[in-house]
Amino acid sequence: MSPPLRVVILISGTGTNLQAILDAQRTEGYTVAGVISNRPQAAGLARAAQAGVPSCVVDHTRYPDRPAFEAALEAEIVRFAPDLIALAGFMRVLTADFVARFEGRMLNVHPSLLPAYRGLHTHARVLAAGEHWHGSSIHFVTAELDGGPVVLQGRLPIRPGESEDTLRERVQGLEHRLYPTALGWIAGRRLRWQDGPWFDGAPLHEPIQWSEAVDCVS
Ligand code: GRF
Repeated sequence: MSPPLRVVILISGTGTNLQAILDAQRTEGYTVAGVISNRPQAAGLARAAQAGVPSCVVDHTRYPDRPAFEAALEAEIVRFAPDLIALAGFMRVLTADFVARFEGRMLNVHPSLLPAYRGLHTHARVLAAGEHWHGSSIHFVTAELDGGPVVLQGRLPIRPGESEDTLRERVQGLEHRLYPTALGWIAGRRLRWQDGPWFDGAPLHEPIQWSEAVDCVS
């Protein structure tokens, strides 16, 4: 039996997705090898400590420019010898050079039904536009911001009178199931990258839609 997939998680803040990923390690068959934050105050660092997972801070404000920051970040990532990097609320834009070094080995969670609503403040923008549906997407990271192939997507109906806060909370609840599931698929080799995403032996042209039964896809 091959050793479990080693995942490094990059965070900037609260780390609720990190927590969900940590909690599902055993059931989904991967190991969180390390956590890296670009913010020293990120609450997610305490979650890593609590789980006994090593962490480090690469504070972007201490580097003169983006390439210098990314060189330090890459050095820390490599130190953890990961098979996969999972961005979980990591709020720095990564350059094309950096992304290219980890092609097919980096995932992100974005709080919208991509390709709709790339970028920031998605919950507020979705509400302002009067949308009926919102959700979250797990995608491979490419040089195009929030533009890499989406592998798994979960959607929610927007409720009457919904606020930005309630919507964020509901979307994050969904993310906490989506992200470990996608990592589990990679750990189990159902999902892999070969010039693009493949799922169960076939190229994945459309994101898999989350439902409670999605774990049972065969
Ligand atoms: C998540 O909603 C994710 O979609 C977005 O940032 C948020 C991070 O939340 N990219 P947390 O730090 O995992 O709690």
